Amino acid sequence: MSGTAAQGPRLRRALEGIPTYKPGRPASGADGAPAYKLSSNENPYDPLPGVLEAVVETAGRFNRYPDMACSGLTAELAERFGVPPEHIATGTGSVGVAQQLIQSTAGPGDEVVYAWRSFEAYPIITRISGATAVQVPLTPGEVHDLDAMADAITERTRLVFVCNPNNPTGTVVRRAELERFLDRVPGDVLVVLDEAYREFIRDAEVPDGVDLYRDRPNVCVLRTFSKAYGLAGLRVGFAIAHEPVAAALRKTAVPFGVSQLAQDAAVASLRAEEALLVRVDALVQERARVAEALAGQGWTVPESQANFVWLRLGERTLDFAAACEAAGVVVRPFAGEGVRVTIGETEANDIFLRTAEAFRKEL
Ligand SMILES: Cc1ncc(COP(=O)(O)O)c(C=O)c1O
Repeated sequence: MSGTAAQGPRLRRALEGIPTYKPGRPASGADGAPAYKLSSNENPYDPLPGVLEAVVETAGRFNRYPDMACSGLTAELAERFGVPPEHIATGTGSVGVAQQLIQSTAGPGDEVVYAWRSFEAYPIITRISGATAVQVPLTPGEVHDLDAMADAITERTRLVFVCNPNNPTGTVVRRAELERFLDRVPGDVLVVLDEAYREFIRDAEVPDGVDLYRDRPNVCVLRTFSKAYGLAGLRVGFAIAHEPVAAALRKTAVPFGVSQLAQDAAVASLRAEEALLVRVDALVQERARVAEALAGQGWTVPESQANFVWLRLGERTLDFAAACEAAGVVVRPFAGEGVRVTIGETEANDIFLRTAEAFRKEL
């Protein structure tokens, strides 16, 4: 065997040192204790009425490939948002679409700008493409620093993510500041408004990205069925973007990536929207209850417009996560920074609040 053959296949240098995506840990419930997963911003409810039935019906045909163009879902989304069907591009979760957006715009020598800390997939998918990640720190109030992000744009910048609300802090950017930012971004740089948590927003000053995209060809909106719609396990998300961005997404899509189960479940979920909105409202009310209780315990919690809250615990992060786990709820720690806690079932939220109260007294 020659020297080179003994070393095995040559992999791309860009992959070296890429952080691995850490999924929220599942709840184990050792010794019969109740255990709740508050670590992945999932929806705690059972499927919406009609959705499980739609999936069961489709499941009988999984010897067939899915509709590659996702035509039924695309038509439904186009009507709902009042956009041409050609402006809709579906993918394997919105993270899949985000990766296609980077593949479509950036490679070695190019830059991708985003706030930090933000959604942990951004650095991973940026580096996989070989592009350089430019991370712009959040403000001390844990909000996107849009002025600093605009300042960070260079002639090498190809794409900017704005995560609104931001994962993991739950904070938002509002209309005036976002429009000012968009006015500063050169027209050949794609701005991706990642609105995975859009349905949980109650602040009227937060713009709907779909309104902003309409007359801005360099703005693209990302949405998902994983959070409010409760389809995280089925993997379907979508972008709304002008041509040629939407066309690029169709080129970079994994053929048949979105299963027919996911497509039919998404259509059924859109049709069950009334029930969805009731559930989302209940979670928003729980969010208010949790935020108020935490404030009452003395915690400083950034105002969240998403289905989670963020506690900046610094060095105590892992201790806090361990205390939560011992009490029966699994949260998502970011070592040395803080803990993100999904708003879940009332009982789970209560366990979290009791743990937070006890922990606070020890600080
Ligand atoms: C901000 C943000 N964008 C996108 C996603 C990806 O969601 P999915 O790929 O399930 O649509 C997540 C999931 O955690 C997220 O927090």
